[in-house]
Amino acid sequence: QEDVFKKLVAHCKEYGFVFQSSEIYDGLGAVYDYAQNGVELKNNIKKYWWDSMVLLHENVVGIDSAIFMHPTTWKASGHVDAFNDPLIDNKDSKKRYRADVLVEDLIQKFEEKINKEVTKAKKRFGEAFDEAQFRETNPRVLANQKKIDEVHTRFAKALNDNDLEDLRQIIVDYEIACPISGTKNWTDVRQFNLMFSTEMGSTADGAQKIYLRPETAQGIFVNYLNVQKTGRMKLPFGIAQIGKAFRNEIVARQFIFRMREFEQMEMQFFVRPGEEMKWFEYWKEARLRWHKSLGMGEEKYRYHDHEKLAHYANAATDIEFKMPFGFKEVEGIHSRTDFDLSQHQEFSGKKIQYFDPELNKSYVPYVVETSIGVDRMFLSIMAGAYNEEEVEGKDGKKETRVVLNLPPVLAPIKLAVMPLVKKDGLPEKARAIIDELKFDFNCQYDEKDSIGKRYRRQDAIGTPFCVTVDHQALEDDTVTIRYRDTMEQERVKIADLQGIIGKKVSM
Ligand code: GAP
Repeated sequence: QEDVFKKLVAHCKEYGFVFQSSEIYDGLGAVYDYAQNGVELKNNIKKYWWDSMVLLHENVVGIDSAIFMHPTTWKASGHVDAFNDPLIDNKDSKKRYRADVLVEDLIQKFEEKINKEVTKAKKRFGEAFDEAQFRETNPRVLANQKKIDEVHTRFAKALNDNDLEDLRQIIVDYEIACPISGTKNWTDVRQFNLMFSTEMGSTADGAQKIYLRPETAQGIFVNYLNVQKTGRMKLPFGIAQIGKAFRNEIVARQFIFRMREFEQMEMQFFVRPGEEMKWFEYWKEARLRWHKSLGMGEEKYRYHDHEKLAHYANAATDIEFKMPFGFKEVEGIHSRTDFDLSQHQEFSGKKIQYFDPELNKSYVPYVVETSIGVDRMFLSIMAGAYNEEEVEGKDGKKETRVVLNLPPVLAPIKLAVMPLVKKDGLPEKARAIIDELKFDFNCQYDEKDSIGKRYRRQDAIGTPFCVTVDHQALEDDTVTIRYRDTMEQERVKIADLQGIIGKKVSM
């Protein structure tokens, strides 16, 4: 699995999806750039989300608020005081860890042990193997499961009580399972604030310390009244936004999974107090359905309900995706109560309320939020789409085809148009097809190398359709269209291309 992940990261670079930021200077930790194909995929992900939120929901509107916000915003939201990660250092290796991530790793180690036992037994018993029964009865599996449950319970309690001493103790107690075993030399756990700060205005003017926003949500909360009034919005209604967020992550790892500069797609849904659980369930289901609609495989998604709730939430769930390194959070759905709006009301001294004509009273609305990271979504799509297949190559020899089975709606290039040869007017014919279709789809012209090589290049970037222009095209205006997933080819009229492709790449 680790191998697959390494290949995926290499593929992202080789085929122009993701580059390390400032690579010529050896990069900058946990900061990445999107390349020529990556930016197209990313834009398509954002459009797919935006359209499903704003276009398809009459009561959801969008905004685009600034990254810089008045510093009091972050006092009110609780981020100055509570947006912390618990840090721990190992004195022997001189390495720094996030204590909570270390404990999660530790739990994963126990899970791996269980999986090893199961795989071994499966091999031994073959067809007759009953996995559920094995998990319930095998002593080694049970012992490891017991440890997982113990750590889970202690971990949830330590986080909930902000008990940093016990957080450290869990790491020491279960050290054997840690990535670095054989040492007990840990520092205390201490809290580290994740917000980046900078200064606005020159020092002579009395510069103001301001923060780079760690979530886009606060830009929505502080604009709640403006949008509600100017859009004459009635509850329940939502405000959606896509934009950059910044967090000074301590342990940056796993490529674009945890970044210091990333992008979020968030939607705050304002509801009547008391109705938040109904809407929480509604959005929980709607969001999972949205993910599954991309056709990456239903078994790759699952919910993970939170035990530890953020300072603003009364219910929270993650939608997790099966990454090459295990099931990981891609999206969070949170019931945020009236925490944020009430705080902004208090700190700003402005009344932030909704007059409900049906109830004939004013109140601070409750909020259900859906929050997804563009980059994590990108990673999940790339991981789900990356496949290596054995196919028959030239002379009947087996060869490996690397293909991105991207959902056509998200593919960076929808159509590659290839003249069979670089003469006889075929390039001109190919370009004429592109000129017809380029306003509807992102098309690419390719005339270099053999047709087989050109197909492979398009497979590797996930292009769902390749059109080959041969001499017959000059006579009867037909071409061959080749489908990425099946590699099947058929002869079609040039005039039909728009319809064939359009049907497959729309939402
Ligand atoms: N407004 C709520 C909020 O920000 P969160 O769970 O902290 O909640 C929401 O973040 C989503 O943002 C996550 O599910 C993840 O997809 C993405 N995200 C958070 N931190 C990230 C990071 N360091 N790098 C990439 N994506 C991140």
